[in-house]
Amino acid sequence: MNFHRTVLLQETIDGLKVVPGEKYIDATLGGGGHTEEILRRGGEVLAIDTDLDAINYVKGKISSSKLHLAHGNFRDIKNIAIKNRFEKVSGIVFDLGVSSHQIDSNERGFSYQQNGPLDMRMDSNSPIKAADLINLLNKNELSDIFYKFGEESNSRAISNAIVSARKIGTIQTTNDLVTIIARVYKIPEHRLDQMKRTRIAKKIFQALRIAVNNELDVLREALNESSSLFLPKGRLGVITFHSLEDRIVKNAFIDFEKRGLGIVVNKKPLLPNRLEMKTNKRSRSAKLRFFEKN
Ligand SMILES: C[S@@+](CC[C@H](N)C(=O)[O-])C[C@H]1O[C@@H](n2cnc3c(N)ncnc32)[C@H](O)[C@@H]1O
Repeated sequence: MNFHRTVLLQETIDGLKVVPGEKYIDATLGGGGHTEEILRRGGEVLAIDTDLDAINYVKGKISSSKLHLAHGNFRDIKNIAIKNRFEKVSGIVFDLGVSSHQIDSNERGFSYQQNGPLDMRMDSNSPIKAADLINLLNKNELSDIFYKFGEESNSRAISNAIVSARKIGTIQTTNDLVTIIARVYKIPEHRLDQMKRTRIAKKIFQALRIAVNNELDVLREALNESSSLFLPKGRLGVITFHSLEDRIVKNAFIDFEKRGLGIVVNKKPLLPNRLEMKTNKRSRSAKLRFFEKN
C-alpha cells in the first residue's frame, strides 16, 4: 500500500522555483513526495511532520545529506526552523490534511469507511482523542463543531443523538459514531455501508478531526510565523482540501500583501489538471495558492 500519493506535485515545485543549493521547508512531510522533488532539483530541505510514522517512513526511503527531518507541529515552524539553521529560506510548502497512510490505518480512527477507535490525532502523543470530545462535550459544543467545521446543517440533531446514545454507553469506535449519524438520517443499521458513502459522514468526521487537532488555529499561527522566515523573493505555497482552510490561506495572503510583505502570486487558486483529478480522487478538492516575499 502506498504511504501517500502526492497531489499537485509539479505545480507546487514549479511554483516554489527551486534553486539548487538554496533552503526550503516542507511543513507537512507525509510520504515525502514534495520533499523528494525539491531535493531532486538541488534544494536543501527541512521537513516537518507531527506524525512519527511519516518521519520514520521517509527516514527509510530517502537518504540525503541535504534532508533534515524534524518531528513537531508546524505551529512551531519558526522555532523548528531556527533550531535547524533554516531561519531564512527560499520557499515553504504546506500540503494540509491527512496522508493516505493515516486514513488507511484503521487504528488511527480517521476513516468513516473502516471501523477503528475514535482517535483522529495527527500526533499520537497529543492528549485529546476524538472519543474524548464525543463523550465529554455538551450538546451545544458538539453541535458547534459539526456546524462550524463540517458546515453540517443537521448539527443539532446529530449532537442530540450523540448525547442520547451516551446515556446507554460510551461511544468508542468510528462505527459507533456512523451508526448514530445513520439513525438521525433514518438509515437502518444493516445498511451502514450506505451511510459510509455519504457526504454527511465525511463532513462529521472532517469536523471532528479539525477539532481534535485544532487545525484552523494552528494553520493561522503557522502562516503568520512563516512570514518572517523568507529571503527576498522567497515563496510560500499552500495546498488546502476544504473551503475553511482555503479561506484562511486566501485571507492571510491578502493580509500579508496589505502589510507590504510581498505579493499574492495567483489571485485564483491553482487546481489539479483533469488527468490528476481522474486518477487521484483525493486531489479533486485540492487548491494551491502562492505568496511571494518582497
Ligand atoms: C497530505 S499529507 C502530506 C503529503 C506530502 N506532501 C507528500 O507528498 O507525501 C499531510 C501531512 O501533514 C502532517 N500534518 C498535519 N498537520 C500537521 C501539523 N500541524 N504539523 C505538522 N505536520 C502536520 C500529517 O501528519 C501528514 O503527514
